[in-house]
Amino acid sequence: MRVDILTLFPEMVTPALTGSILGRAAKAGAWSLGVHDVRDHGLGKHRTVDDAPFGGGSGMVMRPDVVAAAIAEVRRPESYVVLLEASGTRFTQAVAQRLSERPHLVFVCGHYEGVDARVRDVLVDEAISIGDYVLTGGELAACVIVDAVVRLLPGALGNDASIVDESFSAGLLEYPHYTRPRDFEGHLVPDVLLSGDHGKVATWRKRAAEARTWALRPDLAAALGLRDPALVAAETQALAEAKEARAQARRAARAARREGG
Ligand SMILES: C[S@@+](CC[C@H](N)C(=O)[O-])C[C@H]1O[C@@H](n2cnc3c(N)ncnc32)[C@H](O)[C@@H]1O
Repeated sequence: MRVDILTLFPEMVTPALTGSILGRAAKAGAWSLGVHDVRDHGLGKHRTVDDAPFGGGSGMVMRPDVVAAAIAEVRRPESYVVLLEASGTRFTQAVAQRLSERPHLVFVCGHYEGVDARVRDVLVDEAISIGDYVLTGGELAACVIVDAVVRLLPGALGNDASIVDESFSAGLLEYPHYTRPRDFEGHLVPDVLLSGDHGKVATWRKRAAEARTWALRPDLAAALGLRDPALVAAETQALAEAKEARAQARRAARAARREGG
């Protein structure tokens, strides 16, 4: 996949998208990045990119002719051009999946009061928002989207199975993860995860994912038709058992200290 980002602040974007896993994925050939300064298309000797809004009001608006020239420089027949905008389609894992199937993504980052409305109307394929809040510019939003999209590309992560299991991939939150120590200050790892029985572990994880989704994101659970209160009861019982086990461990530790001292 090719990604081109059009911005007035390239220095905000490049470091965020070239380190760590995304950087390795680029070296492995899963994707490539171009970051372009919209000011290169600015007008006159001051390379002006914005102007005051018609009708009055505060702030400056990015000019559509300047943005159009920046898009034209990178657009190809297969390009999908996305404008970052607070009023756009809400970004979700499903949108990330959809974008990951495109060969070429172009992101247009607004700044100041935003971009002239005609950019959205006639120059781009879609406007996307990363949430119901207002950022100072589209750069961080573009980085969030590119990060979520690139990690879905074949070969971008070492272990593709981790994509299948994780939160939102099947509409569920992911099951909880545990590592050493087995006993962290009296909080024990569920026994089943130490049993070595892969079938039981898989069943536990599926149930735990459903129970967590039910408990933490009932909106997602409802969308999936996960309404079985038995799952919640099973989780409640498991939590009660874990709590009792922790209490027992604490009692045993206190008794051992008394004997020792
Ligand atoms: C200060 S904002 C403009 C806000 C605009 N006047 C409004 O009320 O929607 C400047 C730029 O930040 C970006 N931006 C702000 N919030 C965003 C969000 N939630 N998602 C994606 N981009 C956002 C857009 O590119 C926008 O043009």
